[in-house]
Amino acid sequence: MIIVVDYGSQVSHLIARRIRSLGVYAELVPPSITAEKIRKMNPEGIILSGGPKSVYEKDAFKVDRRILGLGIPVLGICYGHQLLAHTLGGKVIPGSKEYGKEILSAKKSQLLKGLGKHEQVWVSHGDSVVKLPEGYEAVGSTDDCKIAAFENTRKRIYGVQFHPEVQHTTNGMKILDNFIEICGDKRDYSIKGLDRKIVAEIKKAVGKEALIMGVSGGVDSLVASVLIKRATPNLYCVFVDHGLIRKKEQEEVAELYKNLGFSHFLMIDASMLFISRLKGVADPEKKRKIIGKTFIEVFEKKVDELKKRHHIRFLGQGTIYPDRIESAKSSEQAAVIKTHHNVGGLPDKMKLRLVEPLKDLYKDEVRELGKLLGIKKELLWRHPFPGPGLAVRILGEVTPERVNILREADAIFTEELKKSGYYNKTWQAFAALLPVKAVGVMGDARAYGYIIALRAVTSTDAMTADWARLPDELLERISARITKKVRGVTRVVYDITQKPPATIEYE
Ligand code: XMP
Repeated sequence: MIIVVDYGSQVSHLIARRIRSLGVYAELVPPSITAEKIRKMNPEGIILSGGPKSVYEKDAFKVDRRILGLGIPVLGICYGHQLLAHTLGGKVIPGSKEYGKEILSAKKSQLLKGLGKHEQVWVSHGDSVVKLPEGYEAVGSTDDCKIAAFENTRKRIYGVQFHPEVQHTTNGMKILDNFIEICGDKRDYSIKGLDRKIVAEIKKAVGKEALIMGVSGGVDSLVASVLIKRATPNLYCVFVDHGLIRKKEQEEVAELYKNLGFSHFLMIDASMLFISRLKGVADPEKKRKIIGKTFIEVFEKKVDELKKRHHIRFLGQGTIYPDRIESAKSSEQAAVIKTHHNVGGLPDKMKLRLVEPLKDLYKDEVRELGKLLGIKKELLWRHPFPGPGLAVRILGEVTPERVNILREADAIFTEELKKSGYYNKTWQAFAALLPVKAVGVMGDARAYGYIIALRAVTSTDAMTADWARLPDELLERISARITKKVRGVTRVVYDITQKPPATIEYE
């Protein structure tokens, strides 16, 4: 195992994912981790991640010095690279800023073994290491950063100013691979066989007791429920229709669970309740909170009902690793951009014990596991859909009329994307309704209707996203179909904003 000490970089999870893809289990731990805890975890290697602070600032995260004396190989990345130098007696100062692609001139070294003399790397930093601790050697430099990589092969401590975990560092995986070699890890981590192991664990934990689980049709709850069903037939899946789902979603999810052989699939139509509670509410955060609270209420009621007839003691959830482990930095200090609503907020008073079969996995691993379980590719690669559904895609107040308009427009958009093959080329694509009206002309009459915004993005993890370059003809066809078929829409616009500065969803 390799542990990644997370100093708050946006891409700390990416380091762990890359290490796992090289066959070694990796886990994130907070910066407060002590040498004792690490010794207990017994990892083969330690990676110190990047982070937004400067090592010389008073409140900057430190590293327990004793960790560096454990004899376990350590690799510092960006902030981690600077933190190693700073802690071990080198010097870090605000240097010339580097952002984006740079060329690394590499010397012969253990960490950079197999790399060319000049390699493209991706950097993002304002501070630089200007003096190395004693016994350390600089093994790589860029134009503006003389110590872009260093090592001490005797102590097996290494640092890189750039990010080997991001794709733009052309041979980044090779560097991580070299580090694993240095650690001498066995590379025995794989998704293969994990299904049987997880099913056995669920069986052991649950026995013959019954479970209840909220499902959405999304990949996480789907894979989790299939695993749980393999362990026990006593699984009750509940789909809460909050009235803010996509066209025909209700039937599709019911059909899906029926086809997969789930005998206890329960659909609750709570759409009237949700819509009535959202009446007159325009504030995005308020909408999310109302939906979250109402969801819990409806779900709890169902649990109570079922508890009277069955001995339900467990709650299944599709929680995945990043839902559980937040970056220490961002969860402590970042402002709440959006309150994410997932079933995760279910209250303790339900007195159910949690079963989370995917809690240690990343999304791509969940999909791989789903494939092993025989789940169809198109179900595993469905676009993500937010918990509050269409409510965050109708800007301002949610009304039944607006929901209907958006649902129809969105269905046309999705259908055209699927037909043209662009659905699978985008991370996420959907229509949003802008609550302003614009003038149009239909037939000979003047029309006055809503504006539909189309959003299609490419991304690898939703942390950043680029707008998808859809062909003009496709956009034209979609626009023509929506304005023709959906009453109440006079215009269609295409969103060309990246994330950041925008988010993927509208609210
Ligand atoms: P943003 O809009 O923050 O979205 O760029 C990033 C990803 O998260 C999804 N998302 C949500 N998922 N509940 C969810 O379950 C939510 O409230 C929520 N808000 C955003 C979004 O669809 C995108 O994939």
